[in-house]
Amino acid sequence: MQKLLYIQASPRKERSKSTQVASAFLESYQKSHADDTVDTLNIFEEDLPTFDGLKVQAKYTILHGKEHTPEERQAWDAIEKIITHFKSADKYVLSLPMWNFSIPYRLKQYIDILVQPGYTFTFGENGYEGLVKDKPVLVVYARGGSFPEGSERGAFDMQKKYIELFLGFIGFENIQSIVVGPTLQGEPIDIQTMLDVSIQKARSLASNF
Ligand SMILES: Cc1cc2nc3c(=O)[nH]c(=O)nc-3n(C[C@H](O)[C@H](O)[C@H](O)COP(=O)(O)O)c2cc1C
Repeated sequence: MQKLLYIQASPRKERSKSTQVASAFLESYQKSHADDTVDTLNIFEEDLPTFDGLKVQAKYTILHGKEHTPEERQAWDAIEKIITHFKSADKYVLSLPMWNFSIPYRLKQYIDILVQPGYTFTFGENGYEGLVKDKPVLVVYARGGSFPEGSERGAFDMQKKYIELFLGFIGFENIQSIVVGPTLQGEPIDIQTMLDVSIQKARSLASNF
């Protein structure tokens, strides 16, 4: 029995295109992996701790190789709890919209909590090394516009580039992706066709995930 963690990063509930595609994947996944569990983390509904004050100080204490003070330790517990939950999964699905060419701020807050020395990455003789190893991840990216890789517009895409950088930094190597878009450009019928194709792709990836 394996655990799949689904990180849902659009606040638009059933209207969300990224959520619709990820939900299609999960529906098929649950059929083909009946013994597995799916744990959903809704980034906009979860009560994520702010990453500031003593929590930031506690991070620097680790970076400087020192012991936490009792106050830092207490503040750090909230961070550790979220990282432990994240690392407890065997597989991951992340769905997110593009916001201002990048990612929604709540997802960035979650990433700032997760990326910690000694927990999700380390720094050794060979430089940085990710510690979340041998786990597959599927990322569903929704965006209103079109940002073809290698094109002038593609340079504006800080959503996919950043997520791939973050995932690679903490150790992911098996990264699959579905780009859902453009969701706000073109005729409604073309948008629907694009969405149907994305949903089909999501379903087809599920059985071997
Ligand atoms: C705050 C905000 C910022 C956005 N910024 C961009 C953007 O920079 N580029 C783009 O192509 N679409 C942008 N959009 C449109 C969304 O990416 C698009 O509607 C996408 O389908 C939303 O995904 P969702 O349906 O899963 O929420 C933005 C939408 C919002 C609400």
